[in-house]
Amino acid sequence: MSSDRPLLHVRDLRVDIGTRNVLRSVSFDVDRGDLVVLMGANGSGKSTLGLALAGHPRYHVVSGQASLGGHDLLAMTPEARARAGLFVSFQAPPEIPGVKNNLFIRTALNAVRDARGEAPLDAFDFLGRAREASTGLGLPEAMLARPVNDGFSGGERKRNELLQLALLQPKLALLDEIDSGLDVDGARAVVQLVGKLRESGTAFIVVSHYLHLIESLEPDAVLRLHEGCIAEQGDLSLAREVARSGFARPSEPQAA
Ligand SMILES: Nc1ncnc2c1ncn2[C@@H]1O[C@H](COP(=O)(O)OP(=O)(O)O)[C@@H](O)[C@H]1O
Ligand SMILES: [Mg+2]
Repeated sequence: MSSDRPLLHVRDLRVDIGTRNVLRSVSFDVDRGDLVVLMGANGSGKSTLGLALAGHPRYHVVSGQASLGGHDLLAMTPEARARAGLFVSFQAPPEIPGVKNNLFIRTALNAVRDARGEAPLDAFDFLGRAREASTGLGLPEAMLARPVNDGFSGGERKRNELLQLALLQPKLALLDEIDSGLDVDGARAVVQLVGKLRESGTAFIVVSHYLHLIESLEPDAVLRLHEGCIAEQGDLSLAREVARSGFARPSEPQAA
């Protein structure tokens, strides 16, 4: 793969949920180490984009292309996409009762390490790393021994998504409203972790409605999703414009 190709390449992506078309034709690129903010009104399809890229079976890709590092994502199973370096955090992380958090994350990490040609981590080595990362994210160590997200508060679930991100070190991470439900320390932890991973080459798509977080992340581009397409692409000034005057644009008819 030549280095001038973007890390993530999405072209004319059309996605349906059931019989309903949600994404009509989405096209954008993300380069290695870049951070793109994805904005859009509630229901515009931001989570749909993330879950379609991740390979969630409910999100039916009707047509278009999506590749990561030159590999055709759409031809791969969800787990192969993760092994190829894709990480998508949940807007509402689900509980997985009966599956211990530390075993869940270690299994995922070892699958990804295997794909990278790295040796698996045993329980002892994993726990050392997981404890260190948890401490950095303000997640109590006891959360590692509990079932995944079982009884976790909203903010604890978001921190648990960040813990997975910190340990998996993906090539591309899509963070879906990671800041909603997080307290100020949690939001600061997001900025720190994203900055650290970005330095080592991880690219990000960040979905957020909060200008303060968006500004702190120093994005390379800001995209606005509207009516199933990337309707506008700009820099921080676009995010500031949205914060000031909302998602409606004079040139676009208002929904009835
Ligand atoms: N399982 C589903 N069945 C039907 N419609 C859905 C389903 N999931 C999402 N949608 C609809 O798809 C649209 C896009 O949703 P979503 O991607 O979650 O928007 P966003 O993340 O931008 O707020 C919304 O109108 C939502 O109601
Ligand atoms: Mg959403």
